[in-house]
Amino acid sequence: MSERTAFITGASKGIGLALATALLARGWHVVAIARHTKPLTALAHEHGARCRAISADVRDADALHNVVRTHLAAPRRRLHLLFPSAGLASVGPFESMPPDTWQAMIDINLTGLLQTVQIVLPHMAEGGHIVIPGSIAGATGFANWAVYSATKFGVRGFAEALRQEVRPRGIRVTHLTLGATATPLWDNVPGAWDHRNMLSAEAVAAWVLHILDHPESGVEDLRLLPPTGML
Ligand SMILES: NC(=O)c1ccc[n+]([C@@H]2O[C@H](COP(=O)([O-])OP(=O)(O)OC[C@H]3O[C@@H](n4cnc5c(N)ncnc54)[C@H](OP(=O)(O)O)[C@@H]3O)[C@@H](O)[C@H]2O)c1
Repeated sequence: MSERTAFITGASKGIGLALATALLARGWHVVAIARHTKPLTALAHEHGARCRAISADVRDADALHNVVRTHLAAPRRRLHLLFPSAGLASVGPFESMPPDTWQAMIDINLTGLLQTVQIVLPHMAEGGHIVIPGSIAGATGFANWAVYSATKFGVRGFAEALRQEVRPRGIRVTHLTLGATATPLWDNVPGAWDHRNMLSAEAVAAWVLHILDHPESGVEDLRLLPPTGML
């Protein structure tokens, strides 16, 4: 296939970084967004102009519009994959969680994701794919994850409805229902979490590639859990 381009938020760490790495290795162009782009320096060096590492906050609509104008609209580049992976988990009893803490999760995990999709969508190619990394916490509740869960239930509902809206344009939407995945997201989660019992970010990326390789199958939701269960 001719040149393909992906737009990945949260590309500096974890699942977004694993997917950016895998796509670049396959010859894709990647517009890689995070607030801190230093972790992307090595990738940008290795892949040159195919990897655009851009510092932007998904809460900042102007910054996202700027990125899209410069890297998609001006070069008339159509997008084949959008992977909005920017997110965070702040975990603890809801009753005592500071409002700023839970509001940030809503602003990044939910509003930031919606804003990203809305700004990028006009640049999707026909036959393009929006793959949304959601969570098992968007399908069931876990104590201390109440607001994280609220954002992920929201993201799942958004994906379900968006799919019906963009289907006539030939754009696919896949929601990933992901169980625990060994990424830096867990660094801030209280408790002892054994990363060996989690999915790897590379395994999640490999499933995304598999979905992209099989456009004849309409994968609407893919539920990936560690073999040991939900943790
Ligand atoms: N890990 C899991 O177990 C798991 C399971 C299910 C679903 N998920 C979901 O999958 C997505 C990726 O998670 P992950 O595990 O890969 O997390 P991660 O390793 O912590 O990476 C999060 C990424 O998001 C970026 N980010 C955070 N806030 C941002 C903002 N305001 N604007 C732009 N970028 C921002 C971070 O970079 P900067 O800090 O530099 O901005 C980083 O690149 C999240 O939505 C998460 O909820 C994760």
